[in-house]
Amino acid sequence: HDLSSANTLGLPCLAERFAAPSAIGPLRRLLRQAAERDWTLTILGGGSNLILPERLSGLVLKPALRHWWLERQGSRVLVHVGAGVEWHALVMALAGRGLWGTENLALIPGFCGAAPIQNIGAYGVELCEVLEAVQVLFVEDGRSAVLTPEECVFGYRDSIFKGELEGRVVITGLTLRLSRVASPRLAYGDLAQRVGPCPGPLEVAEAVCAIRREKLPDPAELGNAGSFFKNPIVESERAAELLASWPAMPHFELPDGRVKLAAGWLIDQCGLKGWRSGHFGVHDRQALVLVHFGGGSAAELLAFADRVVGQVQARFGVMLEREPRLA
Ligand code: EPU
Repeated sequence: HDLSSANTLGLPCLAERFAAPSAIGPLRRLLRQAAERDWTLTILGGGSNLILPERLSGLVLKPALRHWWLERQGSRVLVHVGAGVEWHALVMALAGRGLWGTENLALIPGFCGAAPIQNIGAYGVELCEVLEAVQVLFVEDGRSAVLTPEECVFGYRDSIFKGELEGRVVITGLTLRLSRVASPRLAYGDLAQRVGPCPGPLEVAEAVCAIRREKLPDPAELGNAGSFFKNPIVESERAAELLASWPAMPHFELPDGRVKLAAGWLIDQCGLKGWRSGHFGVHDRQALVLVHFGGGSAAELLAFADRVVGQVQARFGVMLEREPRLA
């Protein structure tokens, strides 16, 4: 099964076996089959935060649970959503119904089931702030479980699904908590200047889409996985040293006193914005995004990324960490 169009980087990948179960029963049966036959399991969502190798043995599962519904609880609304629902489509549908909570997360590619893994976040909001529960199936025995946000151990682009539970569960659905009460979050960047005085959630979502379209390449046109690196977090002493040399360096102080730096700025300062080598490049409008011009491989991409990391390390002494996951 050819997965080259099932990953937004557009990397060539052939899977030995592929299935897209659209209900829990068939998904559970496939998990049992994979365990019995000792197939390596790879779970695929929208493929927008993933680096695929040229060959995947075993079974690739893409949960296609595509139902969602609302449960009204006064001014709160719970949204129950299957793992195979496209995240952006859900965000626009909720914003269009006047519901607040996910509008800042508009235009993030990928499926709902993948959203908790890296705790997607943008424009001052992270998924964990609106998440009520995550439904999973355990790979080992197919039993279902519901995780609370505390049990998910969310952090910046991080969760238990990248740690202790990596490879052990399939996320089948999410419960989100939205609100009818106006609660715009406009503090990030120039978002406030892009909307009118009393915007509704749809207006905010549309402003976020406009900002993203200006900076981020559309994977349908140019292969990419969004931010390729996490924004690095350094001790306050280190940040102070860096700021003494580069007073204009964007930085954000965290509650624990450490400081988050902008990886895109660091890469940009190395003169790498728009740099191209072979089949890969640094995006010319947002240096945090690596792009694939076609014809390249995962190995070449990782080597290209290492060169970017090396230059930032040499200039700033800051180590960048990769954001998309290796399958
Ligand atoms: N900057 C530059 N040059 C660049 C890119 C950025 O100087 O080429 C500077 C900007 O001017 C700004 C700062 O760096 O002062 C931060 O840039 P921006 O606001 O564009 O956000 P980011 O830190 O580059 C993060 C997320 C994005 C998310 C935006 C908005 C990570 C790894 N990335 O990017 O997430 O959309 O904030 O909230 O945290 C993604 O994960 O795929 C993604 C796109």
